[in-house]
Amino acid sequence: MTTAQHKIGSGFGATTTAAEVVAGIDLTGKLAIVTGGYSGLGLETTRALTAAGAHVVVPARRRATAEEALRGFENVEIDELDLSDLESVRAFAERFLAAGRGLDAFIGSAGIMACPETRVGPGWEAQFATNHLGHFALVNRLWAAFTPGARVVSVSSRGHHYGPVRFDDPNFEDGYDKWLAYGQAKTANVLFAVHLDKPAREQHVRAFALHPGRIMTDLVRHLDREELVAAGMLDADGRVTGEVKTPEQGAATQVWAATSPQLDGLGGVYLEDCDVAEPAPADGARTGVKDYAIDPLQAERLWTLSAELTGVNAF
Ligand SMILES: NC(=O)c1ccc[n+]([C@@H]2O[C@H](COP(=O)([O-])OP(=O)(O)OC[C@H]3O[C@@H](n4cnc5c(N)ncnc54)[C@H](OP(=O)(O)O)[C@@H]3O)[C@@H](O)[C@H]2O)c1
Repeated sequence: MTTAQHKIGSGFGATTTAAEVVAGIDLTGKLAIVTGGYSGLGLETTRALTAAGAHVVVPARRRATAEEALRGFENVEIDELDLSDLESVRAFAERFLAAGRGLDAFIGSAGIMACPETRVGPGWEAQFATNHLGHFALVNRLWAAFTPGARVVSVSSRGHHYGPVRFDDPNFEDGYDKWLAYGQAKTANVLFAVHLDKPAREQHVRAFALHPGRIMTDLVRHLDREELVAAGMLDADGRVTGEVKTPEQGAATQVWAATSPQLDGLGGVYLEDCDVAEPAPADGARTGVKDYAIDPLQAERLWTLSAELTGVNAF
């Protein structure tokens, strides 16, 4: 079990913005891919990276929506990608590789949450397939493009506390639960970074996973008001409950993961509030990282399963 899950004292915190974590960092000449880079946290990530001088490729499931969201942005290019369709992943990766460019950062910010039961590809549960398998296949297919010093950032969630990867039934064939399915996908996002970091570090590439915070975005698009109340996100009067971040604050941890020299020499760890997270406390409080999400054996098992399912493995 990793012992690296301890705060490093970054000096940043829950209210830090993406612009603040890149202040003073010159990303001129750097190239990043930000999945979901036209909505919510991804959009603010694209904004911060391009403002610091990076060129950002935004793969979009809905090109017209992306063009609208990114109007006026400089140094952005939009391409097409549907993470739930492995053929689309392959085609995007081939177009990217054909251009022969080096990739300095990959931020997997695209995701879906708590959708009704949906099957994609050969019958895969859509949250596992979109949030995890699509990113898994994409990073593996792009592997040859990563430059020494590059970072892979896997946007997970505190939702990983809902449960581990269900190796006996990852596609919920024995009965669907949309929150357990989200939790599984977000645990998979952490395990992906934990395992990837091992072979990647030999090529001077490091991988991180993170919880961005709680931010009101389109992520809740599959939930009606009643369900948002039941999930504790809204109170009975429809007001957002508890602490929430702005999208600019929500994007900060992933921008920090992708760019900060404070993380040099680290990898395979889970971050929150622009710092390395602590292990989840034994009292069940939903903070920090659960043991099962950073377990190297489960990470290796998930890697093997994902490679078998997608037919892609760069290592
Ligand atoms: N917001 C929060 O409170 C929160 C908390 C914890 C973790 N997170 C994580 O943060 C990440 C970003 O969420 P967000 O809040 O920014 O949500 P968002 O505003 O809904 O953005 C999600 C993005 O993912 C894209 N996407 C969805 N399915 C896709 C597919 N099949 N192929 C390609 N792109 C796809 C969406 O594109 P379309 O709009 O075209 O569908 C959208 O651009 C997610 O991974 C989420 O799990 C968010």
